Amino acid sequence: DEQQYDYDVLVIGAGPGGYVAAIRAAQLGLKTACAESRETLGGTCLNVGCIPSKALLHASELYDHAANGAMAKLGIKTTVELDLDTMHGQRRDAVKQLTGGIEYLFKKNKVTWLKGRAAFKDAHSVDVAGQTVTAKNIVIATGSSVTPLPGVEIDQKIIVDSTGALDLPKVPEHLVVIGGGVIGLELGSVWRRLGAKVTCVEYLDQILPGFDGDIRKESNKIFKKQGIEFQLSTKVTGIKVEGDKAILTVEPAAGGEATTIEASHVLVSIGRRPNTNGLNLEAAGLSTNPRGQIEIDHDFRTKADGVWAIGDVVPGPMLAHKAEDEGIAVAENIAGRHGIVNHAVIPSVVYTWPEVAGVGLTEEAAREQGEVKVGKFPMMANSRAKTNHEPDGLVKVIADAKTDRVLGVWCIASVAGTMIAQAAQAMEFGATSEDIAYTCHAHPTHSEAVKEAAMAVLGKPIHI
Ligand code: FAD
Ligand code: NAI
Repeated sequence: DEQQYDYDVLVIGAGPGGYVAAIRAAQLGLKTACAESRETLGGTCLNVGCIPSKALLHASELYDHAANGAMAKLGIKTTVELDLDTMHGQRRDAVKQLTGGIEYLFKKNKVTWLKGRAAFKDAHSVDVAGQTVTAKNIVIATGSSVTPLPGVEIDQKIIVDSTGALDLPKVPEHLVVIGGGVIGLELGSVWRRLGAKVTCVEYLDQILPGFDGDIRKESNKIFKKQGIEFQLSTKVTGIKVEGDKAILTVEPAAGGEATTIEASHVLVSIGRRPNTNGLNLEAAGLSTNPRGQIEIDHDFRTKADGVWAIGDVVPGPMLAHKAEDEGIAVAENIAGRHGIVNHAVIPSVVYTWPEVAGVGLTEEAAREQGEVKVGKFPMMANSRAKTNHEPDGLVKVIADAKTDRVLGVWCIASVAGTMIAQAAQAMEFGATSEDIAYTCHAHPTHSEAVKEAAMAVLGKPIHI
């Protein structure tokens, strides 16, 4: 009987997956609640992820441009002084405003916020802060947290994770970043720009796993030129804290002689893992896969009737926009509509300077599926990038050799994150490289490089 439930939909977790699912469910006329254990809404992304990291990336980028002579080159003379407290203050303000904004949206859409940690009692009821709440549908959107490095304790002072690295009270003397992934490069960039010596230790032979091979190599060169030191194919085997210093022991990944690195701070950024601890999944008849994720079908249903899951806690890239799109889709499916997410077209952006972005297949993955044609265009030959003194980077378009359909687009450019949206849209519409090449792009814009890379697939760019 429908009447016996407190809610039509109960969402567990108020990150970009959960809060979006809750708002959409309420918009579709469903009685909705969202349980969140944190003091504020917005999850990892708004509180300690996307938003605060971008606040520091933006501020430190401007500082760097002023301090390293880039502004002087444009005829803007500056005397630069870092006021880190104010920089942190504006970061906290951004977080406060955006998390407060979600609270407002919950009120506006009549989503009930249940404050506290939720644990399943059965597939239709959970305990939240000592109270039992029932719902016809339950959406698990509990997100992820930092993967620990075995034997290494995060004290958030000398050895920090991303949350600690966003809040360092002083610029580190020497920050060693463990893991050359997205977090390592973004937060490594922030502190390098503000004056820290930064060393990045990466287990694999290239940074940015999952990105296109050319893009990984090229971005490595650019970050090196900016002063980040890389130790690739290297593993950290131990860290000892001695007073206010950390001594890392590192070894070649393939084995060999150990050496040490002395650091004032260490950032552990070796990935994130799904949050299912304390959820009591078994009570709902659920378990996790070997990677700790909750398995779902195409509609975001788990194997327990009435229980759904989205975001970082399910397989797929751990990205806010992927979680958000899944949040909308799951709510529509619960309401009996047809919510779909095309997991083949999810853009990925690293918000360094320049930005690194991609969507679809890497050249390596595309080649495994069949014959491909590749077009590349350097940002150096793009008039706007050149005029703005942003010579680094390129755009790369990968298309099916027979059908010309675009399979992947990769770019490194100051505004790559914005440029990749047009590539995602083109791919969503099933575009060929010819479609992109014959679309009129405004001049002078960085986006013209996407058009010219598509022209290069066809063999005829104009400006190179
Ligand atoms: P989360 O945002 O993790 O939210 C889950 C929420 O559930 C949390 O608030 C948690 O407190 C709550 N919760 C967990 N268990 C329970 C429970 N039992 N009861 C009640 N509540 C519970 N992604 C991007 O796309 N772009 C970026 O620029 C970007 N930058 C990032 C920077 C950093 C430093 C980090 C760490 C991550 C970044 N990400 C970025 C990744 C992004 O934050 C995640 O992909 C996104 O937050 C996932 O959303 P989610 O809703 O699945 O989970
Ligand atoms: P990641 O998976 O991007 O990178 C981790 C890196 O650490 C990999 O290169 C891996 O090879 C390396 N590594 C693993 N174990 C190691 C070890 N023992 N020693 C040395 N290197 C090791 O993970 P990261 O950077 O922690 O980010 C976590 C998640 O957060 C990512 O999945 C990402 O999607 C998301 N995120 C997204 C952002 C964005 O979209 N701009 C920004 C920040 C995070």
